[in-house]
Amino acid sequence: MSSTNKITELLEKREKAKLGGGEERIKSQHKKGKLTARERIEKLLDEGSFEEYDMFVSHRCSNFGLEKESYLGDGVVTGRGTIDGRVVFVFSQDFTVFGGSLSETFARKICKIMDQAMKVGAPVIGINDSGGARIQEGVNSLSGYAEIFMRNIAASGVVPQISAIFGPCAGGAVYSPALTDFIVMSEKTSYMFVTGPKVTKTVTGEDISTEDLGGATVHATKSGVAHFRVPNEEEGLMMIRKLLSYLPQNNLEDPPQTECDDPIDRIEDQLNEVVPLNPNQPYNVKDVIYLIVDQREFLEVHQHYAKNIVVGFAKFNGMPCGIVANQPNFLAGVLDIEASKKAARFVRFCDAFNIPIITLVDVPGFLPGSIQEYGGIIIHGAKLLFAYGEATVPKITITLRKSYGGAHDVMGCKQLRADINYAWPSAEIAVMGPKGAIEILEGKRINEIEDIAERNKYIAEKENEYKEMFANPYDAAKYGYIDDVIEPRNTRFRIIRALQTLQTKKDSLPPKKHSNIPL
Ligand code: HXC
Repeated sequence: MSSTNKITELLEKREKAKLGGGEERIKSQHKKGKLTARERIEKLLDEGSFEEYDMFVSHRCSNFGLEKESYLGDGVVTGRGTIDGRVVFVFSQDFTVFGGSLSETFARKICKIMDQAMKVGAPVIGINDSGGARIQEGVNSLSGYAEIFMRNIAASGVVPQISAIFGPCAGGAVYSPALTDFIVMSEKTSYMFVTGPKVTKTVTGEDISTEDLGGATVHATKSGVAHFRVPNEEEGLMMIRKLLSYLPQNNLEDPPQTECDDPIDRIEDQLNEVVPLNPNQPYNVKDVIYLIVDQREFLEVHQHYAKNIVVGFAKFNGMPCGIVANQPNFLAGVLDIEASKKAARFVRFCDAFNIPIITLVDVPGFLPGSIQEYGGIIIHGAKLLFAYGEATVPKITITLRKSYGGAHDVMGCKQLRADINYAWPSAEIAVMGPKGAIEILEGKRINEIEDIAERNKYIAEKENEYKEMFANPYDAAKYGYIDDVIEPRNTRFRIIRALQTLQTKKDSLPPKKHSNIPL
């Protein structure tokens, strides 16, 4: 063969590989409102940056006559490229080849890029659209999954791992995305479940649709499995690019600092008025967040799940930070099982990847009741406590209003090694609110007062006494638990100065194999 022919052969093979399972199946993919595996990669990465690996790999299975059906690439497109000029590794499952099902060789391709991502210290992005284990390959497919799981586990806390779910993701296959840091799901075209509607019906009698069992909305609102729900794949891919702009390449690097035009000493008078005088009146803590961060840009994580706590990424003078804030607008900002789990996972992610944590506190306490107790609020609340206590990244806590009871301790208090604790003048830091406290402290005396008017007067007097003592930040400041009481309008400036000071912070935990976080 002449060298020209050899090159023609190469180019033809490449073209063939790019067609995946063929034009008909590509059309069918588009008809479902989905992009192909390669189109997704093109939209995700910087233009022209993709370098594909293993384009000529094909399966080695001959069960069920499979030797007669083979496709170059074997159903997954893998390789590396850049996002905003930074290296990432990517795999994209190709539904047009055996429904994107995972074979032994398919798994090897994914493992190859994961191994390299770990060696060079770069994020891994996995785009999932697959019918699960390739049925014809039996146990070789199952072991392929396990090889991937093992790498997901090894890479956890070493390089960021992000999963996009743009089609089916069912059975044990869900566990690879579940082991990664963030899951993005597209509305209507994606679903995730361990057991699908048919088996659910057979085993439990429950009649439920695919969407209601494992669609993007369910996972973004009820289960918390999905961190981001997006209306379409393009927005999902843009979301991943945005997310990465806050993250370091690996756990040994700092997050990427960028130039910032937003003045660091921007004074926001509105903040002085944001907290209502009536302590029972709600306000939107996101208004506070938008006013203090650079350019009002906040990437909220888990926006639709456990809305009583808000978590997400923002920048302060170009420095990426994680924000955790109680949300008085939803369930009065109470801590419950879901909020505790959501915030704990976020705090741990930030700590693993050197991202400072800013905590905005306005929490009336933990949600009481048998549902919470039977559901294990003790263990789940402990997760958040543990996550804060274990985190060695710079931690700045600002108490905006309520900080009551156990929730005060959990939400980044001084003794959990927060570095700088500020409070607004509206802060109330105590074991419990005035009403509850007076009922307990004065209950006997109150019951002895027969005249109702007199009784109410006595209660009001005692509540006022309590409020004067505790419904302010000065008792905590007196003991040094609060470093300073600040004017709300200066909050941005005070946070940035604190972050600048803490940039060289060093802190560590005693040597151990690993901690035993209450799971
Ligand atoms: C081999 C598969 C396949 C699979 C789909 N295909 N799933 N081939 N192994 N698991 C093939 C189909 O034969 C078909 O081939 C093509 O992919 C497209 O599939 P369709 O069924 O025509 O597509 P659609 O109607 O869109 O339905 C998609 C689907 C369905 C819902 C994913 O295919 C399906 O239910 N597949 C099986 C899912 C499953 O039970 N997987 C195992 C889960 S257990 P042709 O040639 O016609 O194009 C699991 C264990 C993992 O994954 C364990 C890890 C620990």
